Amino acid sequence: MADNSSLHRASRAKNDEFYTQLVDIEQELNHYKQHFKGKTVFCNCDDPFESNFFKYFAMNFNHLGLKKLICTCYRQSPIAWAQLSLFENEYVIVKTEGGKDPYKIEINEVADYNCDGAVDLADVKWLLQNDKNSLSVLQGDGDFRSEECIELLKEADIVVTNPPFSLFREYVAQLMEYNKEFIIIGNKNSITYKEIFPLFSQDRIWLGYRNINADMWLVVPDDRDCEKIVDGKRLKHIMACWFTNLPTTKRSEFLPLYKRYNPDEYPKYDNYDAINVDKVSDIPYDYDGVMGVPITFLDKYNPDQFEIVAFRKGDDGKDLVYSLSNGGGLVSHTSAYLYDDVIRPIINGRKIYRRITIRKIFHGNSGND
Ligand SMILES: C[S@@+](CC[C@H](N)C(=O)[O-])C[C@H]1O[C@@H](n2cnc3c(N)ncnc32)[C@H](O)[C@@H]1O
Repeated sequence: MADNSSLHRASRAKNDEFYTQLVDIEQELNHYKQHFKGKTVFCNCDDPFESNFFKYFAMNFNHLGLKKLICTCYRQSPIAWAQLSLFENEYVIVKTEGGKDPYKIEINEVADYNCDGAVDLADVKWLLQNDKNSLSVLQGDGDFRSEECIELLKEADIVVTNPPFSLFREYVAQLMEYNKEFIIIGNKNSITYKEIFPLFSQDRIWLGYRNINADMWLVVPDDRDCEKIVDGKRLKHIMACWFTNLPTTKRSEFLPLYKRYNPDEYPKYDNYDAINVDKVSDIPYDYDGVMGVPITFLDKYNPDQFEIVAFRKGDDGKDLVYSLSNGGGLVSHTSAYLYDDVIRPIINGRKIYRRITIRKIFHGNSGND
């Protein structure tokens, strides 16, 4: 009988099974085209038969000037070989007979075989018949943390995928450890993880181009609940957004500030020396102290305009403070560096939902001061 931990793992793995639509990949990645030239891209949570990340990079291989595309897939994927198949490609299936063994595909050349000037799936279908490209079964289970996948990671310049949400912390930690450039999808909530949020403050991660409030519809397998079916695809709304460390123009845009500070509209917290701002668009242009703003602020965060002071969450006393003014150290209430501000914001006795605290650091160019 399966024990609790294996049941838990199975249910977690199942919840990780949803697939990114090509249109969402195109909309985001089209902003980064200049970064891919001559680069090796690694999609390490992607079964090429299912993944639109593979499809995007294979189709745009020459257009982006890629050096190499590597994809690896994970043994556990319950729908491997079953659906979302990109190609009716007997060649691949015959080559990988024996089933669900995890495998990797390496693409080094995409020729325009049908000479129509474009690279489309009719060409991709023949990708693996090119001697310069290969499909091989992995020795392990294709876990992104496995030795062989880490070797591929080392070879890669940019990692692009939608990784398992349940392993997001470890996934990002590994990218950081190997100092990789990345464009990945994650749950919006992961912004607030104590392992992730400090990376925002340290300018080691930021949000991609897609608006954090925009809906993202991902494809779910047949046995999962969906909210709508479009063109045969079972879609579920997932609170997801893009995370990257590649330069974006969005990140250097200045948020126009047009509201004037007044103490009635922006009350101070009872327990922290900062004013409360309920909407990012209401950040006052003439307040120089610390302000508590919603997490969605990160979508507008320009490090030349604001500094992140702290993040506060919950009322269980386990809040974390990340303070640039304290040497950039991350401390918890249990640490020796206990600050008296490590409490949830309260206004007139009323608890306020979690806030990021920020301070304006640039006074030129906001157009208002
Ligand atoms: C959110 S899905 C996204 C799939 C694909 N990247 C996409 O965007 O369509 C995450 C995928 O990661 C795979 N996965 C789960 N645990 C993994 C692990 N430890 N290593 C590699 N892949 C894993 C799952 O099987 C799942 O297919």
